[in-house]
Amino acid sequence: MRTQVAIVGAGPAGLTLAHLLHRAGVDSAVVEIRSREHVEHRVRAGVLEQGTVDLLVECGVGQRLRREGLVHHGIELRFGGEGHRIDLTALTGRSITVYGQQEVVKDLIAARVESARPIHFDAREVAIEAFDGEHPRVRFQADGKRETIDCDFIAGCDGFHGVCRGSLPEGSFAVHERAYPFAWLGILAEAAPSRSELVYASHERGFALFSMRSPSLTRLYLQVEPEERIEAWSDERIWSELAARFEGADGWQPNEGPILERIVAGMRSFVVEPMRHGRLFLAGDAAHIVPPTGAKGLNLAVADVRVLARALARWYASGDASGLEAYSATCLGRVWRAEHFSWWMTAMLHRFHGESSFHRKLQLAQLEYVASSRAAATSLAENYVGLPWAEAD
Ligand code: FAD
Ligand code: PHB
Repeated sequence: MRTQVAIVGAGPAGLTLAHLLHRAGVDSAVVEIRSREHVEHRVRAGVLEQGTVDLLVECGVGQRLRREGLVHHGIELRFGGEGHRIDLTALTGRSITVYGQQEVVKDLIAARVESARPIHFDAREVAIEAFDGEHPRVRFQADGKRETIDCDFIAGCDGFHGVCRGSLPEGSFAVHERAYPFAWLGILAEAAPSRSELVYASHERGFALFSMRSPSLTRLYLQVEPEERIEAWSDERIWSELAARFEGADGWQPNEGPILERIVAGMRSFVVEPMRHGRLFLAGDAAHIVPPTGAKGLNLAVADVRVLARALARWYASGDASGLEAYSATCLGRVWRAEHFSWWMTAMLHRFHGESSFHRKLQLAQLEYVASSRAAATSLAENYVGLPWAEAD
């Protein structure tokens, strides 16, 4: 097989890249280790920045997103028994849209299938080769047969546990990393959201988050121990812990309902630099991870491939490599801003083991400041809704 750009991974990064390249007249082949069914039903992110929504709409995969996405103009910070609304739209002129990552993935796969360009699910033993030179290759097995894709470039969009980053030659990159001493227990419940905006709660018992997926599905998260066993959490324990952490003077609580799905997700900050090696370009979670508190991971993945698609299109149109040369630096500017914001939100809202009363008082002072100062609230809001794309990309 031969293509121009071989894309490893059919998550939001790989699928968006495939679609943008197709629209720019650049050929690609996508290779994914999981089944179509699996990737279309993996419940993960839910918050899309306005820039992400605009991009998906502009490139023709936003019809259902426009119809079913829930546009939110604010979020609540809840602490000390009180709720404090941050009016995102009044502060920034922008909004966010709640639309499940698996819905974005379904829309993008449908577009890929419609384009009739190749996408290989259920690939085995995926390996990348020769990306130091001009003729890289992706090898994999499908239906018991060995396959090779010869290409001009490889896009490593295979997430944090993928094969691409691990194929970089030793000593050719730097890693900047932080693990957090807690995880999130996430549930999807068949219950109507009991309010229309997200609630981020910082309670003495730990962090909790109220979110949603649709008018009949509530999404909720609890801060738990880093290696928490999911079996330790009965439905009853989950609901009573949520009730304790959301308690407040207004009496608001999430609606309860049957739990359809539950996960435990670790929390990590991670960046690899540079994001390019020869003809291999890393994008999305393959290159960087943020803790989910800032709702940035999927948005960063889309921002990376927007830059990459434009750079590749320019190279194919005119041989101009300047976008490809600048790819890593262009992306890393946005990545580090999001890394800082996600770390900051995480540090402000979670309880840390063994923290002193001094540390907790500082967290509460910071929360009070964000809730009462327009300048501080604007800083949170402009990061949360997403900073504009950089001029140069
Ligand atoms: P992935 O979605 O991980 O896709 C990578 C793909 O590559 C997968 O399909 C995988 O199967 C495939 N793959 C792996 N290895 C190989 C291989 N060897 N060969 C071929 N294919 C391979 N982000 C937000 O923006 N907003 C949120 O609200 C938010 N909430 C989150 C909540 C939770 C609980 C979690 C866990 C994450 C959340 N995120 C959020 C983060 C977001 O889900 C990720 O950042 C996003 O999925 C990154 O997309 P990606 O395409 O880079 O990687
Ligand atoms: C979600 O709805 O899954 C979600 C929302 C906000 C976050 C993280 C996850 O910060």
